[in-house]
Amino acid sequence: MAGLALRGVKKSFGSVEVIRGVDLDIKDGEFCVFVGPSGCGKSTLLRMIAGLEEMSDGLIEIGGKDVTFLPPAKRGISMVFQSYALYPHMTVRQNIAFGLKMAKTSRDEIAARTAKAANLLQLTDYLDRKPAQLSGGQRQRVAIGRAIVREPEVFLFDEPLSNLDAALRVQMRIEIAKLHNDLKATMVYVTHDQVEAMTMADKIVVLNAGRIEQIGSPLDLYHRPNNLFVATFIGSPKMNLMPGEVTGVENGAAKVALKGGAHISVDTHGKAIANGPVTVGIRPEHIGVGQAGAPNSVPGKVVLSEHLGGETMLYVETSAIPQCVVKTDGLASQKNGETVSLSLPANTCHLFDANGQAIVNGSLI
Ligand SMILES: Nc1ncnc2c1ncn2[C@@H]1O[C@H](COP(=O)(O)OP(=O)(O)O)[C@@H](O)[C@H]1O
Ligand SMILES: [Mg+2]
Repeated sequence: MAGLALRGVKKSFGSVEVIRGVDLDIKDGEFCVFVGPSGCGKSTLLRMIAGLEEMSDGLIEIGGKDVTFLPPAKRGISMVFQSYALYPHMTVRQNIAFGLKMAKTSRDEIAARTAKAANLLQLTDYLDRKPAQLSGGQRQRVAIGRAIVREPEVFLFDEPLSNLDAALRVQMRIEIAKLHNDLKATMVYVTHDQVEAMTMADKIVVLNAGRIEQIGSPLDLYHRPNNLFVATFIGSPKMNLMPGEVTGVENGAAKVALKGGAHISVDTHGKAIANGPVTVGIRPEHIGVGQAGAPNSVPGKVVLSEHLGGETMLYVETSAIPQCVVKTDGLASQKNGETVSLSLPANTCHLFDANGQAIVNGSLI
């Protein structure tokens, strides 16, 4: 197995630079997810790792070896795409074994590796079926089986679950995570879905317009986003953002005047904070619903409550922001039109400067 290193990787299509200098280390055995909005360059970056796309600049190492100029077949990688691209006239067994047959692997070896992969992916009972006789999830498992039998050092996945319905996506997500535990292989996985990234990754790389915004563990990114892009991309419902102004710092707390007249304190965690415009960020589950006039609170009116059973989303109109989302318990009793007081605990608030860079991130982790 092998780790990866990307150094100064750039890619332009004509005069358009789509990857603008990526430096990244992925450890041996790590599950690394590239996440970002559509068009940010995730597939292009993955295809350069695979050797399917030439780089404009930089170098890539796999297992400590410079592979920048190696063809895909010599890089020790297997790639699984969104479209399964199975051969319709071949059985599951033949589809899985195809690459090995092309590589002139011995019949015994092919049989052994196919059986092992089928067992791992629960495809043993389906080996003699054709792709048309399989469900979407089973087809995607065949595509993964085809990658597994080649015993690559690194697996590359490009949005492999996008064609599946929601329930199957959750199931396959769990299966791929289990597969990673079993194989202990290095996996690089591309998705635009932050939930997939959060649930599967050891390490998440957030990409935006061809640049890395932040690299970290799921909880790092959730609790300690570097900037507004990461803060709002990770987490659903999104972090609430309230414009305000720091008017001073007292006893380790920044005094923030929110738009509309409310004043709150935000823990500075020892950071020097200048007076001036900021954005206060707070996640929906950190907001409390309490008594009117409580300290560190903003008054509001419930516009809509969504009862999801286990939790309730309150959409609250406030003077600070028109729509503040609050995640509260499943049996919340607030009615539409009810006046509420939203408390913003000082240790859960994030502050971002006028350029959208984080100044403080709360102290939950
Ligand atoms: N072969 C190509 N020629 C020109 N532009 C391309 C090509 N492939 C991708 N792009 C552009 O590069 C950008 C990144 O694309 P891509 O890596 O596919 O994004 P993602 O996978 O994050 O959705 C997009 O703006 C896309 O239009
Ligand atoms: Mg893509």
